Amino acid sequence: MSAQQKVDKNKVVIFDTTMRDGEQSPGATMTTYEKIQVAQQLARLKADVIEAGFPISSPGDFEAVKLIAQQVHGPCVAGLCRTDFRDIDRAWEAVKYAERNRLHTFIATSEIHMKKKLGKTPKEVLKMAVEAVKHCREYTEDIEFSAEDATRSNPDFLCEIVEKTIAAGATTVNIPDTVGYTMPHEFRPMIKNIIKKVPNSGKAIFSVHCHNDLGLATANSAAALLAGARQVECTINGIGERAGNASLEEIVMAIRTRHDLLNLYTDVVTNEIYRTSRLVSRVTGIDVQPNKAIVGKNAFAHEAGIHQDGVLKDKRTYEIMDAESIGLHANSLVLGKHSGRHAFNDKLLDLGYELAHEDLNKAFYRFKELCDKKKEVSDWDIRSIIEDEIIAIPEIFHLESVNVMCGSRSKSTAMIEMVVEGKLVQEAAIGVGPVDAVYQCIRKITGEDVKLIDFSVKSVTGGIDAIGEVTVQIAGPKGHIISGRGASLDIVDSSARAYTTAINKMIYWRNAQNNNGGRASSKNDEAGRGKRK
Ligand code: KIV
Ligand code: ZN
Repeated sequence: MSAQQKVDKNKVVIFDTTMRDGEQSPGATMTTYEKIQVAQQLARLKADVIEAGFPISSPGDFEAVKLIAQQVHGPCVAGLCRTDFRDIDRAWEAVKYAERNRLHTFIATSEIHMKKKLGKTPKEVLKMAVEAVKHCREYTEDIEFSAEDATRSNPDFLCEIVEKTIAAGATTVNIPDTVGYTMPHEFRPMIKNIIKKVPNSGKAIFSVHCHNDLGLATANSAAALLAGARQVECTINGIGERAGNASLEEIVMAIRTRHDLLNLYTDVVTNEIYRTSRLVSRVTGIDVQPNKAIVGKNAFAHEAGIHQDGVLKDKRTYEIMDAESIGLHANSLVLGKHSGRHAFNDKLLDLGYELAHEDLNKAFYRFKELCDKKKEVSDWDIRSIIEDEIIAIPEIFHLESVNVMCGSRSKSTAMIEMVVEGKLVQEAAIGVGPVDAVYQCIRKITGEDVKLIDFSVKSVTGGIDAIGEVTVQIAGPKGHIISGRGASLDIVDSSARAYTTAINKMIYWRNAQNNNGGRASSKNDEAGRGKRK
């Protein structure tokens, strides 16, 4: 039976590469722990394939792919590999634990890539691709071959390599627009021609992988679907190398909303989209732009009076999709000082968070703290504290308290308390401003003299008593940028939380890269130089 026949001809396979291509966005470095959380959420979303990483690229990547293969159930887990046999063997070592696994091997096929990057002739590239697929075939039946930079490749050569790799055992053939160069009216006939010209095309599923350099990734992917492609490679929030990849939520909602036109469907549980978007934004530290299609803060907001009037009369006047269909609930104000644990838990369930007993206790405590300072607590506030408190990586340094003294005529002084290995540690420092003073204390306690690359603050809701969310980016080892986020009513406190999270994450990531599985241990084994209580 051909691969195309194995799935319904109208079904589009959603191949998520948030953890591989998405992680290639500057600053998007995720720890193994975070990747597992994202993978579990992608399983809830019912993505068909999760590309969990590029196992040969680092011990940390290998470990993450292996753990995802072992722990995440539902989606097929894919590992990326070049055509080199060592790459393939390493990828297999990581994905072999999955209930369903895939090897995804690739080589560039454009003149410029073959000549300048690989220093190979087309004949050599063809041989490497075929041998790689045959080698993959020794391990698994689910093999994807990608012709990197396909849209700038010679069409005849592209057809030849596609035909030969299918003959060698590739079950999915991917035609990437690696540099985001093509346009819908060029890409559609290109895909159509390949499918038509390649004699054994019926034996494979055709896939596309579009980058967004010209802002056309989603449009190009949709055009390819019209030409017969039945797998789309995409990322949550469209993150990825340079301008990013086609965004999963855009593709999925376009297929759903324009079913009348496309007559296609995906298995994605669309009301998990919003939660997935938030999680990815949080772990990568990459904010979603407010006007981003589907998941941006303004995507379902109506500003103009005429629009508001229309929507009040009938939502369909200006809304082509329901906010609820992506898991975004309209009700916003709700809980307060007198709300009990039950009501709080109901709210969490409503927002899609099912917390274990201990996490629920922590979240409830933060919620009560918030209610003492704020009269009405909105869904946005709750999301923010949950994500801050619960969806965090294991802490080596736990921030206990922050105190600052500052003013326009005096130097800022900060005093920090942290719990390190079960002991309370204190430090004080002077800085040019309150955040600087706090960061000096944190550096002293953690012993990590990290460079701050970026610092931004935004309010979660409107009003003077809004929660302030701080995102920081710090320079990690090997030139990686690591992010951290913190949320609190006090922005100095949020700043401290964000910086501490980034440092915890960096240590966790550094340990994973050094191949101790991400277990906690700080740079100086003393774990801090502060005064212990
Ligand atoms: O953009 C690209 O061509 C890729 C391939 C590895 C599929 O990411
Ligand atoms: Zn790519």
